[in-house]
Amino acid sequence: MQKIWIRGGRVVNADCSQVADVYVEDGKIKAVGSHLQPPSLAGVQVIDASNKLVLPGGIDPHTHLQFPFMGTQSKDDFYQGTKAAVAGGTTMIIDFAIPHKGCSLIEAYERWRSWADPKVCCDYALHVAVTWWSDKVKEEMKTLAQEKGVNSFKMFMAYKGVYMVGDLELHSAFSQCKQIGAIAQVHAENGDLIAEGAKKMLSLGITGPEGHQLCRPEEVEAEATLRAITIANSVNCPLYVVHVMSKSAATVIADARRQGKVVYGEPIAAGLGTDGTHYWHKEWSHAAAHVMGPPLRPDPATPDFLMNLLANGDLTVTATDNCTFDICQKALGKDDFTKIPNGVNGVEDRMSVVWEKGVHSGKMDENRFVAVTSTNTAKIFNLYPRKGRIAVGSDADIVIWDPKATRTISAKTHHQAIDFNIFEGMVCHGVAVVTISRGKVVYQNGVFHVAAGDGRYVPREPFPEYVYKRIRQRDQVCQPVPVQRAPYVGKVIAVAAEG
Ligand code: URP
Ligand code: ZN
Ligand code: ZN
Ligand code: ZN
Repeated sequence: MQKIWIRGGRVVNADCSQVADVYVEDGKIKAVGSHLQPPSLAGVQVIDASNKLVLPGGIDPHTHLQFPFMGTQSKDDFYQGTKAAVAGGTTMIIDFAIPHKGCSLIEAYERWRSWADPKVCCDYALHVAVTWWSDKVKEEMKTLAQEKGVNSFKMFMAYKGVYMVGDLELHSAFSQCKQIGAIAQVHAENGDLIAEGAKKMLSLGITGPEGHQLCRPEEVEAEATLRAITIANSVNCPLYVVHVMSKSAATVIADARRQGKVVYGEPIAAGLGTDGTHYWHKEWSHAAAHVMGPPLRPDPATPDFLMNLLANGDLTVTATDNCTFDICQKALGKDDFTKIPNGVNGVEDRMSVVWEKGVHSGKMDENRFVAVTSTNTAKIFNLYPRKGRIAVGSDADIVIWDPKATRTISAKTHHQAIDFNIFEGMVCHGVAVVTISRGKVVYQNGVFHVAAGDGRYVPREPFPEYVYKRIRQRDQVCQPVPVQRAPYVGKVIAVAAEG
């Protein structure tokens, strides 16, 4: 285990910043303070962080590494995906174990563990998807929450016939999440309308990537978002809306929060950093490279709008939905946009994109940056303060961040497995110069020191306080009660028997 002394940086947490040294030993933060003196300098790696920020490592709560999807498998595996993550200052990911309809959730969880454990270069956790409903699913959710460290379950309202569940299934799954102390997550798009819209586009001869956006306009996302919030609220279950892509869906979430609902919105790097005008690009492969669901929106004001809501607290965390396919894989849909594998990159670039569009732009400060890139995620998924904070006792997942340095994002220099980057050419202020994962320097000035399997699965306890304190109190005080009244003793009309 390395001993590391980070000297003279500006330590930034979600609530405050201070110039301080940070001392790391045995994978943990052992001391934070001015002018620390380690017990001995023998074997201590000293890192000068003056004029730099010392941040909690980023947590990306939404990735799909080596995901078998739409007839192929996403290109970034758990090795390359987590390696790219640490290069960008992210030290933990939360991926999704997704069973097919009729299949066991626990088996899916075990399968994803067997893929990830030998390959991850940083810590990780798993959400599990509920793609169908039965007593067995209900029981398995409980086992996963109590024995396997899974406290979040994702339900798809889209991908009709594959992963999509209906309102009653959502109601059942949300009720069980609430019972076992989990967070319900939704992919919020109206899958029936998308299926009908896709048929219509194809009948109009629209087979290219623009059809992907045209068959799922914003209201298809906003409607499903409101429906999910309504169902979750009816059972007092906390809800987390993944990949919020549109102004209208974000507004639905903001309004619900203003009405006091327990709902969190997750915009992603793609939606904050680029837009859906690319679907009309003349080059098919360029347009197809941007296909993801829900789609990037053609309204170019969308990224700015989402960032404003993220800055003011209407939206809560940032993720990536990293699910990469190269151009040959995307070409599965060269004649039919419904067959283009859905997904884009982001795990490497999220921190820089959020810094550039959020902090450099003046929309948020360095503390809010930490809140939306790690702390809030750690709180919602019950990882805090082990993750998402620079403090004594926390895991030594740390990024030394140069807020003045710039880098130009490009597929030519990125560390992801694909030949395309949706942020190509974007100049970002804010660069991860050193990344420390589990107390080990894994990336420094462009050089990796990673090994497959160095990361660990991080189990998460149910009933995160940050979320469930309010839920519990509401259960106690918001139960409807019958009106106490004298029984009606008057006449009742006679109803003739039917038939
Ligand atoms: O296009 C996307 N988002 N691909 C990954 C699967 C999902 O819906 O999150
Ligand atoms: Zn999704
Ligand atoms: Zn373009
Ligand atoms: Zn996803």
